Amino acid sequence: MISLQVHTHKTADFVTESEINAFQPEITKQFEALKKKTGKGNDFLGWLNLPSAISQDEIQKIENLAKKISDIAEILVVIGIGGSYLGSKAVIDAMSNHFSPLQSKTERRAPLVVFAGQNICADYHADLFEMLAKKEYAVAVISKSGTTTEPALAFRLLKQDLEKRYGKKGASQRIVAVTDSSKGALRELANTEGYETFSIPDDVGGRFSVLTAVGLLPIAVAGFDIGKLIEGARNMQIFSASKPSIDENPVARYAAVRNALYQKGKVIEILAAYHPRLQYVGEWWKQLYGESEGKGGKGIFPASVNLTSDLHSMGQMIQDGMRNIFETVITVQKTKKQIIVPKDEANLDKLNFLAGKSFTEINQMAQKGTLIAHVEGNVPNILIEIPEISELTIGEMIYFFEKACAVSGYILDVNPFDQPGVEAYKTNMYALLGKAGFESLAEEIYRKL
Ligand code: PA5
Repeated sequence: MISLQVHTHKTADFVTESEINAFQPEITKQFEALKKKTGKGNDFLGWLNLPSAISQDEIQKIENLAKKISDIAEILVVIGIGGSYLGSKAVIDAMSNHFSPLQSKTERRAPLVVFAGQNICADYHADLFEMLAKKEYAVAVISKSGTTTEPALAFRLLKQDLEKRYGKKGASQRIVAVTDSSKGALRELANTEGYETFSIPDDVGGRFSVLTAVGLLPIAVAGFDIGKLIEGARNMQIFSASKPSIDENPVARYAAVRNALYQKGKVIEILAAYHPRLQYVGEWWKQLYGESEGKGGKGIFPASVNLTSDLHSMGQMIQDGMRNIFETVITVQKTKKQIIVPKDEANLDKLNFLAGKSFTEINQMAQKGTLIAHVEGNVPNILIEIPEISELTIGEMIYFFEKACAVSGYILDVNPFDQPGVEAYKTNMYALLGKAGFESLAEEIYRKL
């Protein structure tokens, strides 16, 4: 069984049930294309069966290594960019204490997981080194291609630092590489240096890889239950495979409704959540949908907001700006902890009407109030409801969004599994930095600058 539910009644003023149901033949066709591997990019469908295909042995191998890392390090630096870090960051943030960087390892009961190589900012990486100077740390370098510039640069620095501290052999015992099974610079290096490695399956692309060692290793090191995460994803895998009915299958419904809204000119989808721990679920989701759908002049532009915080920054635009947006709101029934508003005798802030109420209730009322206001402001709202934030529900949600993304991409008639547009900045950057073979491009760019 699954616990995630999709509610679309707050889109009814914008798309009729018959307009949504008109997508049923297309949805059925695209579910079949995924199942039979007849659609675009069909050599990248390994993620579809990951939750049911992963063995207990593989989970155990990841957990064993996580335990080993935890024994020797107070910090794990995860090096990766895009799909090689966003999934683990999303799950770790969703599950962690909000102030975990300020907790001791004993309080956290696990090493702190930090990230590197997800940008090329000098200050970020210099600060990282300053922080690591007095800490015992290990490194997980994650790159499917093994050639991506940002993580490769960060790894160069961290590898040298570890070798300086522990010698080559000691360093190699603190480095894990997650990469292609046979090719790429990182695989070659890992073989030469004798690093512990995990392979990313050939048929799983970066942004669909959170349920491989790419995501599972950092999540396990952070102390979270990867078995439950997989179980949640497996529940969604089984449920969503049973029947592609728009009425019964949340994946089918979400894919149909967002495409119906897109056809009505709602070209921007804002993922909203009322819990700061879900901020990086938004970042992960943006990459998943942005890189998968944004092709050939098509695609719903994915944005995200953290509410109620962003009601005081983006709220005006959502309520009253250009009417080309819809919202997808993640609603959580139960928080992990409770806080009750105390009574204040002086009541200078005039908030005693809230005394005795819980923050959770106030947050939920803010959510309901915002829902009505935004729908009345002509912003359709899709609700994705989960009972609580746990490994199980996050696992369900990951698989839900992945499959809906693939189906949506097929409806748009794009290949959801490639990312040709990502190359453009890289070639220009290489040319500007003087890489051999890029000389004439460099001249052309300098003329344009
Ligand atoms: O989804 C993707 O394929 C990309 O976002 C990659 O994850 C990202 O570019 C990092 O690539 P790599 O893991 O090869 O370093």
